[in-house]
Formats: sequence, C-alpha cells, structure tokens
Amino acid sequence: MKLKFILPGILLCAAVSSFAQNAGSIVGVGKQVDPYHYQSVKSVTYNKACVASAHPIASEVGLVIMRKGGNAFDAMIATQLTLAVVYPDAGNLGGGGFLTARRSDGKLITIDFRETASSQATRDMYLDKNGNAQLNLSQDGHLSSGVPGTVAGLFAIHKYAKLPFSELIQPAIDLAENGYAISARAARELNSLKNEFLKYNTKPTAFVKSDPWKEGDTLYQPELAATLKRIRDHGAKGFYEGETAKLIVEEMKRGNGILNYDDLKNYVAKERPPITFSYRGYEIVSFPPPSSGGLLIAEMLKMIEKYPMSSYGFESVKSTQLMIEVERRAYADRAQHMGDPDFWKVPEKTLMSDAYLAERMKDYDPSHASKSENITAGVVHESDQTTHISIIDEEGNMTAVTTTLNNSYGSKTVVGGAGFFLNDEMDDFSVKPGVPNMFGAVGGDANAIAPGKRMLSSMTPTLVLKNGKPFMVVGTPGGTTICTSVFQSIVDVIDYNMSAADAVNKPKFHHQWLPDEVVIEKGFSPDVKDALEKMGYTCKNRGAIGRTELIKILPDGKREAAADSRGDDSLAGY
Ligand code: DON
Repeated sequence: MKLKFILPGILLCAAVSSFAQNAGSIVGVGKQVDPYHYQSVKSVTYNKACVASAHPIASEVGLVIMRKGGNAFDAMIATQLTLAVVYPDAGNLGGGGFLTARRSDGKLITIDFRETASSQATRDMYLDKNGNAQLNLSQDGHLSSGVPGTVAGLFAIHKYAKLPFSELIQPAIDLAENGYAISARAARELNSLKNEFLKYNTKPTAFVKSDPWKEGDTLYQPELAATLKRIRDHGAKGFYEGETAKLIVEEMKRGNGILNYDDLKNYVAKERPPITFSYRGYEIVSFPPPSSGGLLIAEMLKMIEKYPMSSYGFESVKSTQLMIEVERRAYADRAQHMGDPDFWKVPEKTLMSDAYLAERMKDYDPSHASKSENITAGVVHESDQTTHISIIDEEGNMTAVTTTLNNSYGSKTVVGGAGFFLNDEMDDFSVKPGVPNMFGAVGGDANAIAPGKRMLSSMTPTLVLKNGKPFMVVGTPGGTTICTSVFQSIVDVIDYNMSAADAVNKPKFHHQWLPDEVVIEKGFSPDVKDALEKMGYTCKNRGAIGRTELIKILPDGKREAAADSRGDDSLAGY
C-alpha cells in the first residue's frame, strides 16, 4: 500500500516501516521525509548545517525547515514540536526545558521554560500524616505534574527565528493527524507501560490498544493534532487559555490534580544570563539555575583543569578516579546550594571560583576513594525521559535544547481530549529533606516545594566556543547523569581529542555523592573497575547512560555530528 500526502514543503509517503541503523547516508537536497520508512543516521560530517535529535523524522523536519530558509532557531522549534508527536516518551507539549543558544553575531541566549509548581502546591504535599514521603504521588498521575512550560518556551525562542510559527508547527500537525510508523523501541515501551497508562488515565488514549503494539504500526493522534492547531491559530494562548486550558483543568479535576486556570495563564518562560567559564582556553556556555547543569559542569571541569588529563588518558584509572572525586564534590554542592534562583539565593560566583574549588579538592587523595559521608557541601560565604536536540545552521547559529516530561511518558497521564502527556516534574523537587527522588538525588530547603517555584533540574544544554567561534553543541537526557555525561563528553573532545561519535558512544560513568557508588556503563573497562574497587569504590554496572547529541565544528568549518547509538537518535543535515 502506498499513500501519499503533502505537508507544506514536505512530501510524505506512507509505505512499510523499515529501520536500518547507521545507514550513514547524508540527506540530500529535496530528500523527502517519510513517516513510514525512515532510518537512523548516526555519524556524519556535514558541510554546513545539521540537526541531531532523538528521532529520525524530527531531525529530517528540522533539516527541511533549514532548507526552506529557516535558521537554527526555526529548526529547533519545528524539531521539538515534531518530537512531541513522534517521540511521546519525552518530546512534549506537557513538559518543560531549557534552550542554550548563540546567534551568529555572538549574542548568547538562555531561555528557561522549566515547569513551575502550581499556586496550590505546598511544601509537604507529598507527605502522609506520619510525615512519610509518598513518592508514588510525586512520580505518577495527576498530582505529579508541574505547570507545563514548553509551549511558552517555543514562542520565546521564536523571537530569534525567521519563519512564521504556523509553518514550523505544520509538520507536527500533519504527523499527528495522518500518523507515522512506530519503531521497535517505541512498540516495546508502549506495551510495557500499558497497565500504567490504563491506571493513570481517565479517558481512552491513543497510546493504548487491545493488541500489542509492533514495529511499523501507525500511531494516529487526532486529539494532539487538534491541540497543535489551536496553538497554530491562537499562539501560546491556544495552549494556556481557551479550550486546551479547559481540557487540562477538567483532567485535573477528574484525577485529583491541582493545576488550575490561573497557573496556566500566568506561566512565563524566562530569559536568564548563561553560565560561562573557560576550560583549557575554550569558552563553555551552559544553563544556569534552575538547572544545576551549568554550575556542575563548571565545578567539575575547573576542578580537573590543573591535572594533565590528556597524559592520564581516556578511561585510565587515574583520570576516572579524579573525575569520580570531582563529581562527588560537585553533587554534594547541588544538594545543598542549588534551587530556583527566584526563590533561593544560589551562590553561583563562589561555586565557580578558583579559591572555593581549590578548597574543595584539598582532601583529594589520588590513591583512595573518599567517603561521601565525609564530604559535605562546601561552606559558602557569598551573600547570592527527557530529550536533547543539538543544531547548527549555515550562518553559525547554534541551538541546544534539552526538554523533558521527567521520566518516560511523564506522569503517564494524557490530558483527555487534548492528546498529550503531562509531566511528573514535581518529583524533581526535594519532597522531603534527605529523601531521594527517582534519580536518587537528595536536597533540602534550596529545592523545597513552594507555589510557583521551578524544581531543580540536571538538564545541561551546552555550547563550547574556541577563539570566540562555534566549536561544539552538546546535551543529553539521563536524569542526574546528564551533567556527568556532558562533563565527560567535553573532556573526551578537548582533552582526548575524540571524534564526535566516540565522545558520544564511549562508555560513561557516574557518581552523584549520594548514593556513594560509581555507576558504570556497559562496555567500561573491567580492569579499571577492578582497580577502583581496590581503592575503596563501590562500583555498580548499568545499561545505557544518556542519549547524547553532539556536533563538533572542525577547523575547516565542517560539522562533525553524532547521534547517540543507544537509541533511535538520528542526524539530518547538508
Ligand atoms: O530535569 C531533570 O533533571 C530531570 N527531570 C530529567 C529527567 C531525565 O533526564 C529522564 N531521562 N532520561
């Protein structure tokens, strides 16, 4: 069966689904986006422009938008909206995220569209009458959702774009309305979550059907298409007011949630000053609080800067042990000092200062594991299932967005009649001091729940400049492992001179202060693991860490790009 239909500027042609990993082909001029016959492209050097995202269709849509004259901001908006349709695990309208960008004229832009707690939220809302944390309520279902920020964020980004928003959203509308073939991974995930979808939804959803999903099945999302059309026709008000707001509030009422009309109407995305610092002569630009990411990578990179990492070598005992110890110290600071800067004075300057970081490393011992119980946060005297998209365009505009529903499919609750998942981002707050969230992260006052407050994040959309020129765009999902993955990817490229593909795909490791253990990704050297254990580290194996999308700009200006092999992630460019 062949069915053809036209999107504005995109010819879609339905055929049988087929997925070939790592085809390595470069998308040529006029290549059609085919929602039934697509493949992941993992590692390509493009001449001028490229998009790296979690799904081949989304990257292709970003490319088509650039071909039509859009810049990296246009492509970012269109790619994110497409992910909301073709990657409902994490691409979203009902979540939030961060943009870190650099315009080709040098202007740095950081836009915060993180979710906020409802005006009805209270500090102890997830504690039972005995004071015990009820993590089931912060992690799933209606009460786990913060006020979504994504749609406001995309309109804030649009200020820097060239094409009308209606053109950027149309591919997503058509994909939601006319369907696309799901991948094997998506089929597996939808099947494994079927019971949870049934449990947390008050109306039938597009994501549940009686037979198991299989690769190549078509996913139609007519209610999501209608929501996207309201956004196309009425702008951000098409989401935060009117019919969509009504559907969200009605969903909340059916499921004992607390988001209300005012919460939605009052949501604002915020431009914030970026975190900038230098590392071995490169300028790093990353996201400030309410993300912990920019500060954590600043602390970690600056703590290792005086050590000769390149002579230690990649995945050597020396380099790994040092990186574990700086990760431990930085994450201890995260738990104590970081939260929404509109509610908590985050001591940014001190945390990044040479004197403070030297003090943090005073007890560093290269031959032994320190103990997290002995490493508390530093004393500060200053009075102050997520997805990532990396894009660079022909003019040199760089955009990095990490966006999230929190875990896969967020709260698992779809807004009845509106067709999109709501986030379960409330779990990123510290629901009770010392009680770990779903990523094992602990916190206290800095990240306690308060009405209108943004929950602390690990999302780290990051840019690297060399001699004031674009050098790298990087980011990843992965909860608390995000910051260590971005940290290690930067070290891999700068200190070990790795290619984009190696920096993305080589095994990662992670330490986050508490729990006091090193998490080691499949493929990591068993000899190094043994040596670490002999030094006193507790090492735990785990599967994939992150889904990194990295673009490196080569000295001749070409864009060496890599989409993570751990997922369906894919590149498109020219
Ligand atoms: O903002 C954060 O730090 C988390 N909500 C991110 C969650 C995440 O990366 C899950 N994906 N693997």
